[in-house]
Amino acid sequence: MNSVKGSSRDGPVLVTGGAGYIGTHIGAALMKAGHRIVILDNFSNSTPLAVDRLNSLGLGCAELVEGDVHDEALLDRVFSADRFSGVIHLAGVKAVGESVAEPIRYYDINVGGALSLVAAMVRHQISRLIFSSTATVYGDPAKLPVAEDASLQPEHPYGRSKLMIEQMLQDVAAAQPWMRIMSLRYFNPVGAHPSGRIGEDPKGIPNNLFPYIAQTAVGVRDEVRVFGDDWPTPDGTGIRDYLHVMDVAEGHVAALTHLIDGGGKSGRNLAVNLGSGHGTSVLEVIRAFREATGREIPYRILGRRPGDVAAYWADPTYAERLFGWTAKLSMAEICRDHWNWQSANPDGYK
Ligand SMILES: NC(=O)c1ccc[n+]([C@@H]2O[C@H](COP(=O)([O-])OP(=O)(O)OC[C@H]3O[C@@H](n4cnc5c(N)ncnc54)[C@H](O)[C@@H]3O)[C@@H](O)[C@H]2O)c1
Repeated sequence: MNSVKGSSRDGPVLVTGGAGYIGTHIGAALMKAGHRIVILDNFSNSTPLAVDRLNSLGLGCAELVEGDVHDEALLDRVFSADRFSGVIHLAGVKAVGESVAEPIRYYDINVGGALSLVAAMVRHQISRLIFSSTATVYGDPAKLPVAEDASLQPEHPYGRSKLMIEQMLQDVAAAQPWMRIMSLRYFNPVGAHPSGRIGEDPKGIPNNLFPYIAQTAVGVRDEVRVFGDDWPTPDGTGIRDYLHVMDVAEGHVAALTHLIDGGGKSGRNLAVNLGSGHGTSVLEVIRAFREATGREIPYRILGRRPGDVAAYWADPTYAERLFGWTAKLSMAEICRDHWNWQSANPDGYK
């Protein structure tokens, strides 16, 4: 058995924030790969119904612990109950605009929550941690595609909270060289599980393009708001690197396997991009969604949003070199699966 301190190779994986959008898909991919999972979530931005749906996919049964990552006594109970093979830390808050208005809440939940979790991992000698970071740590990149060694200049409290966590984890990795820590910097995860049973269910008005387009296509919203058509891009709209959420999920399985197999240089928090390597403009996404669904997607051009950047997409080659992962699913498959979920669940999990 390959075990490092308190971690086993075969124990369950703790997925914090596992009832959320990306967490449910990671749960599906982990169970499909044969892992047992325990989900810890306080349902501040999700519902237990999402875990019921995950458990109805026939892939296994996720154990659910309702609670907060700040709760040290709860973490002690969870980690005492089993020898975990690793932790995937997704729990947190993620809305850029909200983070500008409520920075204290953002630093408390994101940085405070991660600190509480990693402290508990050290107490219980759980060695493997994969942290959900974000491409917004790069800010407005000077060079495209964006590689991991690009300068880190996040432009808002959300991005800064993620960078602070990465730096904190680097310090912990240096002090605890038996730990294996990786920060995955996601570009723009979109789409849904091909079953149409789990998907993104934002509360209120979506902040992100895809759920907005899908809700417009299904008639919940009147039109898509396009923020700026005067960016220095070919069609004037912003360009992002969209990748299928199942590709993101498979990236976590591959990263965890890498850590379990002894990868993850001790003393380092490895930062790795998860992106497709391709940029797609807002108007191109709207067109792809229309083609995949046959639905009209009315849209209206508005002014630029403060803090937005013109274009970025990933250099994803490090993930391929390190643990053999590349994004495989196309924009057409993304639109098909997102639509499959949205049309079967116009009101989300409700
Ligand atoms: N969705 C994206 O585009 C994107 C991009 C880059 C990075 N990320 C990161 O990935 C992670 C997951 O994102 P998501 O889109 O699935 O978000 P989400 O809101 O759907 O999921 C987050 C989950 O964490 C839970 N949670 C929040 N605070 C908690 C706490 N203190 N204790 C326990 N549970 C808590 C929420 O209830 C929710 O279920 C986040 O950390 C986010 O910053 C997301």
